[in-house]
Amino acid sequence: MPAPIRVCLVGAGRAGKVHARTLTHYLPSARLACIVETIPEVLATAAAEFPCEAVFSTLEAALEWGQFEAVVITTPTFTHAPLAIAAAQAGKHILLEKPMALTLAECDAIIATVQRAGVHLQLGFMRRFDPEFEIAWQRIQAGEIGRPMLIKSLSHGPGLPPPWARDLRTSNGMLAEVNSHDWDCIRWLAASDPQRVYAEVANFKGAAYGVDTPHFYDTAIVNIRFESGALGSISGVCPCEYGYDARVEIIGERGILQIGQLQGQALVVCTDRERGLAIPIYRTWAQRFAWAYIREMEHFVQCIQHDTPPRVGGEDGRWAVASVLAATRSFLEERPVFLSEVFAEEVTQGTGQ
Ligand SMILES: NC(=O)c1ccc[n+]([C@@H]2O[C@H](COP(=O)([O-])OP(=O)(O)OC[C@H]3O[C@@H](n4cnc5c(N)ncnc54)[C@H](O)[C@@H]3O)[C@@H](O)[C@H]2O)c1
Repeated sequence: MPAPIRVCLVGAGRAGKVHARTLTHYLPSARLACIVETIPEVLATAAAEFPCEAVFSTLEAALEWGQFEAVVITTPTFTHAPLAIAAAQAGKHILLEKPMALTLAECDAIIATVQRAGVHLQLGFMRRFDPEFEIAWQRIQAGEIGRPMLIKSLSHGPGLPPPWARDLRTSNGMLAEVNSHDWDCIRWLAASDPQRVYAEVANFKGAAYGVDTPHFYDTAIVNIRFESGALGSISGVCPCEYGYDARVEIIGERGILQIGQLQGQALVVCTDRERGLAIPIYRTWAQRFAWAYIREMEHFVQCIQHDTPPRVGGEDGRWAVASVLAATRSFLEERPVFLSEVFAEEVTQGTGQ
């Protein structure tokens, strides 16, 4: 059996803890070697819960120590590009949480550095490793429902995300923070790139939650046209008072596939006439996608051990970022936006015109 892959976790917040748990308890082929976290109290709590050999307050210091082969980056979106680039330059393989970065220029810089360094880059699109999503994709590939005509994907997240994650300037907003998974999955399931998007957003709860961030929205709906001619929609609600909800419906020329359901556990409770029947639903994304997080890490480790490319990488991350940028422009300018506009703008900015 090959030696376990030693992993440095960068960022010990909500997502970081999910991955630390996988590395500590569920994956013998990997080991949590060290944790990097800028907030001392968060670092101390994480180190107490997830024993490892060393802790650092910067990635730079961890890279100097260097006793690991891979990094898992679970920091806020606006930090992804510098951290991923530094890790790649040091020859470390990277599991990078979604959204890949804030801009296409940042995505391109990450992809170029990773290629030059010859390391593997996997994006944290764990839904691709969820057993139901994976089987749905296989059945579409096998032609069971015929050519996809309409794909409807929803992600409704429970609590209010951290301040950085609801600000367009540091996260690209909810369409990125919550719906990146939908953007990636509809493109994957449609086997086609998005061509044009039209987004509407609304702010129902911001005032009640004390959020005055410019352009904050808690509700979004996007219509999408794919290059293949297929149509799609993404809906987002966050904070969503009833729990965590992620479902997809794919209508093909010959049939329909539905992924996920509102009911979270095979349990029903009936106590009294007033409360009636209660059917538990998922409370959090960590609960709904528990297996997907473990399986994505397992895939990442296997890619390093066998030197094979991860099946969800930089290009996929870049497409999701481009889609979010197009949808954000769409609601800000109140018009449908072609993805080609976003790509053309990047070329113009890149040449300084
Ligand atoms: N795949 C998923 O389902 C999923 C779920 C939640 C979050 N995420 C993603 O994970 C990332 C983190 O989100 P979160 O909700 O865990 O955020 P968070 O704010 O809870 O945690 C981020 C942590 O990173 C730390 N940090 C910031 N800059 C750092 C740096 N330079 N070096 C080391 N640590 C640093 C912060 O102090 C904080 O503790 C985001 O990209 C988010 O979109 C993915």
